[in-house]
Amino acid sequence: MIRVNQAGELGAREIYRGQIAVLKDHPCAPVLVEMAEQENEHLAAFDKLIAERGVRPTALSPIWRLAGYALGAGSALLGERAAMATTVAVEDVIEEHYQKQLDALDSLDEGDEAELRQLIAEFRADELKHRDVALENGAEDAPAYQILSRSVKSGTRLAIWLAERV
Ligand SMILES: [Fe+2]
Ligand SMILES: [Fe+2]
Repeated sequence: MIRVNQAGELGAREIYRGQIAVLKDHPCAPVLVEMAEQENEHLAAFDKLIAERGVRPTALSPIWRLAGYALGAGSALLGERAAMATTVAVEDVIEEHYQKQLDALDSLDEGDEAELRQLIAEFRADELKHRDVALENGAEDAPAYQILSRSVKSGTRLAIWLAERV
Protein backbone atom coordinates (compact mmCIF):
# COMPACT_ATOMS: atom_id res chain seq x y z
CA MET A 1 0.00 0.00 0.00
CA ILE A 2 2.73 2.42 0.96
CA ARG A 3 4.70 1.73 -2.21
CA VAL A 4 1.80 2.25 -4.56
CA ASN A 5 0.63 5.34 -2.70
CA GLN A 6 4.06 6.91 -2.82
CA ALA A 7 4.25 6.20 -6.54
CA GLY A 8 0.78 7.68 -7.06
CA GLU A 9 1.47 10.82 -5.11
CA LEU A 10 4.70 11.26 -7.04
CA GLY A 11 2.76 10.97 -10.29
CA ALA A 12 0.12 13.41 -9.02
CA ARG A 13 2.70 15.98 -8.02
CA GLU A 14 4.27 15.70 -11.47
CA ILE A 15 0.92 16.08 -13.24
CA TYR A 16 0.40 19.42 -11.50
CA ARG A 17 4.00 20.46 -12.16
CA GLY A 18 3.46 19.78 -15.86
CA GLN A 19 0.18 21.70 -15.85
CA ILE A 20 1.73 24.64 -14.01
CA ALA A 21 4.64 24.77 -16.46
CA VAL A 22 2.15 25.32 -19.28
CA LEU A 23 -0.53 27.35 -17.49
CA LYS A 24 1.64 29.48 -15.18
CA ASP A 25 0.21 32.75 -16.53
CA HIS A 26 -3.38 31.52 -16.67
CA PRO A 27 -5.89 32.68 -14.02
CA CYS A 28 -6.22 29.06 -12.82
CA ALA A 29 -2.51 28.87 -11.91
CA PRO A 30 -2.97 29.61 -8.17
CA VAL A 31 -5.52 26.77 -7.93
CA LEU A 32 -3.03 24.38 -9.55
CA VAL A 33 -0.23 25.54 -7.26
CA GLU A 34 -2.39 24.95 -4.20
CA MET A 35 -3.24 21.41 -5.31
CA ALA A 36 0.40 20.72 -6.18
CA GLU A 37 1.41 21.78 -2.67
CA GLN A 38 -1.03 19.31 -1.15
CA GLU A 39 0.30 16.53 -3.39
CA ASN A 40 3.76 17.42 -2.13
CA GLU A 41 2.57 16.96 1.45
CA HIS A 42 0.97 13.62 0.53
CA LEU A 43 4.20 12.51 -1.13
CA ALA A 44 6.32 13.62 1.83
CA ALA A 45 4.13 11.59 4.21
CA PHE A 46 4.58 8.41 2.15
CA ASP A 47 8.30 9.11 1.65
CA LYS A 48 8.58 9.20 5.43
CA LEU A 49 6.67 5.91 5.84
CA ILE A 50 8.81 4.25 3.13
CA ALA A 51 11.94 5.23 5.07
CA GLU A 52 10.59 4.37 8.54
CA ARG A 53 9.34 0.95 7.54
CA GLY A 54 12.06 0.03 5.08
CA VAL A 55 9.54 -0.40 2.27
CA ARG A 56 11.13 -0.89 -1.13
CA PRO A 57 10.10 2.11 -3.23
CA THR A 58 8.69 1.54 -6.70
CA ALA A 59 11.35 0.70 -9.25
CA LEU A 60 9.48 2.80 -11.75
CA SER A 61 9.95 6.27 -10.21
CA PRO A 62 11.50 7.75 -13.37
CA ILE A 63 8.51 6.47 -15.34
CA TRP A 64 5.95 7.94 -12.92
CA ARG A 65 7.79 11.24 -13.03
CA LEU A 66 7.93 11.32 -16.79
CA ALA A 67 4.42 10.00 -17.37
CA GLY A 68 2.92 12.33 -14.77
CA TYR A 69 4.68 15.38 -16.12
CA ALA A 70 3.82 14.49 -19.73
CA LEU A 71 0.16 13.96 -18.85
CA GLY A 72 0.07 17.25 -16.97
CA ALA A 73 1.80 19.31 -19.64
CA GLY A 74 0.00 17.50 -22.47
CA SER A 75 -3.44 18.01 -21.01
CA ALA A 76 -2.67 21.65 -20.23
CA LEU A 77 -1.60 22.23 -23.84
CA LEU A 78 -5.13 21.21 -24.82
CA GLY A 79 -6.38 24.02 -22.59
CA GLU A 80 -7.32 24.79 -19.03
CA ARG A 81 -10.51 22.73 -19.14
CA ALA A 82 -8.68 19.66 -20.45
CA ALA A 83 -6.21 20.05 -17.60
CA MET A 84 -9.12 20.15 -15.16
CA ALA A 85 -10.77 17.15 -16.85
CA THR A 86 -7.54 15.22 -16.31
CA THR A 87 -7.60 16.09 -12.63
CA VAL A 88 -11.21 14.92 -12.29
CA ALA A 89 -10.40 11.60 -13.95
CA VAL A 90 -7.22 10.97 -11.94
CA GLU A 91 -8.79 11.96 -8.62
CA ASP A 92 -11.84 9.80 -9.30
CA VAL A 93 -9.63 6.75 -9.64
CA ILE A 94 -7.36 7.69 -6.72
CA GLU A 95 -10.30 8.33 -4.43
CA GLU A 96 -11.64 4.84 -5.23
CA HIS A 97 -8.19 3.37 -4.71
CA TYR A 98 -7.85 5.01 -1.28
CA GLN A 99 -11.34 3.87 -0.34
CA LYS A 100 -10.42 0.27 -1.21
CA GLN A 101 -7.36 0.52 1.00
CA LEU A 102 -9.44 1.93 3.84
CA ASP A 103 -11.87 -0.99 3.47
CA ALA A 104 -8.95 -3.43 3.57
CA LEU A 105 -7.48 -1.75 6.65
CA ASP A 106 -10.89 -2.01 8.33
CA SER A 107 -10.41 -5.76 8.51
CA LEU A 108 -7.48 -5.23 10.91
CA ASP A 109 -7.95 -5.06 14.66
CA GLU A 110 -9.10 -1.74 16.00
CA GLY A 111 -6.12 0.52 16.64
CA ASP A 112 -3.85 -1.34 14.20
CA GLU A 113 -2.34 0.92 11.57
CA ALA A 114 -4.19 3.88 13.04
CA GLU A 115 -1.70 6.36 11.61
CA LEU A 116 -1.89 4.90 8.11
CA ARG A 117 -5.70 4.84 8.20
CA GLN A 118 -5.76 8.45 9.34
CA LEU A 119 -3.37 9.53 6.56
CA ILE A 120 -5.26 7.74 3.83
CA ALA A 121 -8.62 9.07 5.02
CA GLU A 122 -7.26 12.60 5.13
CA PHE A 123 -5.61 12.36 1.71
CA ARG A 124 -8.73 10.82 0.21
CA ALA A 125 -10.68 13.87 1.40
CA ASP A 126 -8.06 16.14 -0.21
CA GLU A 127 -8.33 14.25 -3.52
CA LEU A 128 -12.11 14.65 -3.43
CA LYS A 129 -11.61 18.37 -2.95
CA HIS A 130 -9.22 18.48 -5.91
CA ARG A 131 -11.84 16.76 -8.03
CA ASP A 132 -14.49 19.28 -6.97
CA VAL A 133 -12.20 22.24 -7.62
CA ALA A 134 -11.51 20.88 -11.11
CA LEU A 135 -15.24 20.44 -11.74
CA GLU A 136 -15.84 24.02 -10.63
CA ASN A 137 -13.15 25.10 -13.09
CA GLY A 138 -14.97 23.75 -16.12
CA ALA A 139 -13.59 20.19 -16.41
CA GLU A 140 -16.77 18.87 -17.97
CA ASP A 141 -16.70 21.52 -20.69
CA ALA A 142 -13.38 20.22 -21.99
CA PRO A 143 -13.40 19.22 -25.64
CA ALA A 144 -13.96 15.47 -26.04
CA TYR A 145 -14.50 15.20 -22.29
CA GLN A 146 -15.73 11.59 -22.31
CA ILE A 147 -12.83 10.29 -24.39
CA LEU A 148 -10.26 12.24 -22.40
CA SER A 149 -11.77 11.14 -19.12
CA ARG A 150 -11.93 7.48 -20.11
CA SER A 151 -8.33 7.44 -21.39
CA VAL A 152 -6.93 9.14 -18.29
CA LYS A 153 -8.88 6.80 -16.02
CA SER A 154 -7.60 3.68 -17.80
CA GLY A 155 -4.06 5.06 -17.71
CA THR A 156 -4.33 5.76 -14.00
CA ARG A 157 -5.74 2.30 -13.27
CA LEU A 158 -2.91 0.74 -15.26
CA ALA A 159 -0.37 2.82 -13.32
CA ILE A 160 -1.83 1.62 -10.00
CA TRP A 161 -1.81 -1.97 -11.20
CA LEU A 162 1.84 -1.68 -12.21
CA ALA A 163 2.93 0.16 -9.07
CA GLU A 164 1.35 -2.55 -6.93
CA ARG A 165 3.65 -5.05 -8.64
CA VAL A 166 6.89 -3.34 -9.61
FE1 LIG B 1 -2.53 13.24 -3.37
FE1 LIG C 1 -4.92 15.20 -5.61
